[in-house]
Amino acid sequence: MVSNRLPVDCVEAADGTKTWRTSPGGLVTAVEPIVEQLGCVWVGWEGSASTGGEPFEVGSMRLIPVELSAREVDLYYEGFSNATLWPLYHDVIAPPEYHRDWWDSYVTVNERFAAQVAEVAATGAIVWVHDYQLQLVPAMLRKLRPDLTIAFFLHIPFPPRGLFAQLPWRREIIEGLLGADVLGFQRAADAETFRLTAEALTGCPVLGNHIALPARDSSPARAVLAQEFPISIDAEAFARTASEPEMQRRAREIRAELGNPAVVMLGVDRLDYTKGILHRFKAFSELLTDDELDPTDTVLVQVASPSRERVGAYMQLRDEVETAVGRINGEHGSVAHTPLVYLHQSFDREEMAALYLAADVLLVTPLRDGMNLVAKEYVACRTTDDGVLVLSEFAGAAEELGEATLVNPHDIEGLKSAIVRATTMPIAEQHRRMRAMRATVRSNDVANWARSYLGAVSGAADAREAGRPA
Ligand code: F6P
Repeated sequence: MVSNRLPVDCVEAADGTKTWRTSPGGLVTAVEPIVEQLGCVWVGWEGSASTGGEPFEVGSMRLIPVELSAREVDLYYEGFSNATLWPLYHDVIAPPEYHRDWWDSYVTVNERFAAQVAEVAATGAIVWVHDYQLQLVPAMLRKLRPDLTIAFFLHIPFPPRGLFAQLPWRREIIEGLLGADVLGFQRAADAETFRLTAEALTGCPVLGNHIALPARDSSPARAVLAQEFPISIDAEAFARTASEPEMQRRAREIRAELGNPAVVMLGVDRLDYTKGILHRFKAFSELLTDDELDPTDTVLVQVASPSRERVGAYMQLRDEVETAVGRINGEHGSVAHTPLVYLHQSFDREEMAALYLAADVLLVTPLRDGMNLVAKEYVACRTTDDGVLVLSEFAGAAEELGEATLVNPHDIEGLKSAIVRATTMPIAEQHRRMRAMRATVRSNDVANWARSYLGAVSGAADAREAGRPA
């Protein structure tokens, strides 16, 4: 496995002692159980400017750290990855910035990852590269180690062609990705857009779900599979955690700590401008003003885990979110009641499961999201089939979870009526919808995702061995 971040971040105390904390984001949630099961080596960054260091073990995982200097954290991670690619791939919700020194650093760091993997991968191994921070690695790695089978998975959306065209290095990115044998996307639309973009920029024809690459120099002709493989979670593990009596006790305790309101709503996001947190707050605040929600009997708990805190757009968002929290509580709260409980913190899986159990309604309202695994986690934890999921049409999860209360988060009136519908939904309807969604999440769980993706990758590996295009 190769990803920008390792599944744990190094936290260094003032006295120099190091501890490990689970990294934020859906990538780790999905990939960690696969690594635990398959026992592969994981190459990635430790989460702070460092000198790399020796391979180490956490649980049954063997982790190989890649070094990033403070300047590379600025230019490659905060710059090109998170202030160029992230906003460009999320419908330019924030304006992407294009800087040549950011790009140069992206190339250098991708080269370092490729070199590190080339050094540790066994002969003929399968290497699985993840996400937008490492899109050049497949082609770089293929050059260094033509014996490897290379797979790549994009966890975030692939942008529409007209937006991708803005990128000054669009051709280099496509050529980087085409170094892989298999390219996985969250949605069929992402895979199709990628195939058409690749064809337009390289002239290589699309054949079904493949892009046909001609023989070049010493490399034979080959076909790259670009297809959707919607990611998922370890649904069984979430359900098991949620069924523990201790979790149920903690859920009751959370409700009691909130003052046992009639309705508890929950939002769980990285503090990111793609997540639609301000849209959600606007709808909530107007419903309180219009007396459609009772501020003495309704609580919205918003978990906003800290993310990319030195990137300008994230600093601005934090100011806006925290101003909105103060305004809503100032206007609608009282000494006895706080309608919006805001937690700028991360929690472990147990506390998250207890929060999911405590919440009557989960609000997932991103403006654009590759998948959104929080929606699936909530569904997996609702083993008694009650609870309502309000889900943005612009999250990949909406393609599978059609029984959710679907919303367009830009439509504040629509979002308000969806929240009212959610808080008043008859229990029989909650059961019908939740049961169907739980069946979906259970049948396409993370093991199934990995099986179908790795099935396609083994097909590509067999085809390579037989010397025919996949
Ligand atoms: O897929 C989204 C993603 O960017 C992952 O690549 C990443 O691990 C996660 O979100 C968290 O982001 P970051 O590593 O920048 O904190």
